[in-house]
Amino acid sequence: KNIVILISGRGSNMEAVVRAAQSEAWPARIAAVISNKADAKGLEFAQAHGIPTAVVANKDFPTRDQFDAKLQEVIDGFAPDLVVLAGFMRILTAPFVEHYEGRLLNIHPSLLPLFPGLDTHQQAINARVAEHGATVHFVTAELDHGPVVVQVKVPVLPGDTEDTLSARVLVEEHKLYPLAIRLFVEDRLSIVGGGVRIADTANI
Ligand code: GRF
Repeated sequence: KNIVILISGRGSNMEAVVRAAQSEAWPARIAAVISNKADAKGLEFAQAHGIPTAVVANKDFPTRDQFDAKLQEVIDGFAPDLVVLAGFMRILTAPFVEHYEGRLLNIHPSLLPLFPGLDTHQQAINARVAEHGATVHFVTAELDHGPVVVQVKVPVLPGDTEDTLSARVLVEEHKLYPLAIRLFVEDRLSIVGGGVRIADTANI
């Protein structure tokens, strides 16, 4: 299976996925890493690992529709079975999302449906929740909604700041996203009645 990963910056989740795909010998390959920013740090890691990269810079397109159309064209040039959003910081239009229905995953740093949108760690601290975490979900046209594949929880500790809490969540994201993607490439995920069914849960 061909996986295309979209990033905007650091790319640490992309890196975790690339490493897991290699070390766990997935029935899949990372066909490309694509960024909407030319200076995304993660592009260097991808290139150093022999993964094709591309930049589709949103600033070069006057409208969201035009950007998404070009992005779709570049992605489809790599014949993806799965498109993975890994810190991709653009809201995608409905036609784009619908084109990849059932094969577009995102990781969001909160326990959805809590704290959609930005600044999730600060939102969690402000709300004084005892637990926070991350969610992998299929992407639908509504931002940070869509069928949940897997979630991971971490405690919120006294004195936590955005930095300490985000670091605790990120460590878990780096395990959670590769797990979810492996289940996808092993054909073990199905969307049933708005939820996700995982086949053979005893064997995760
Ligand atoms: C992660 O926390 C991810 O959940 C969120 O943005 C951050 C991206 O980090 N969507 P990285 O670029 O993968 O290092």
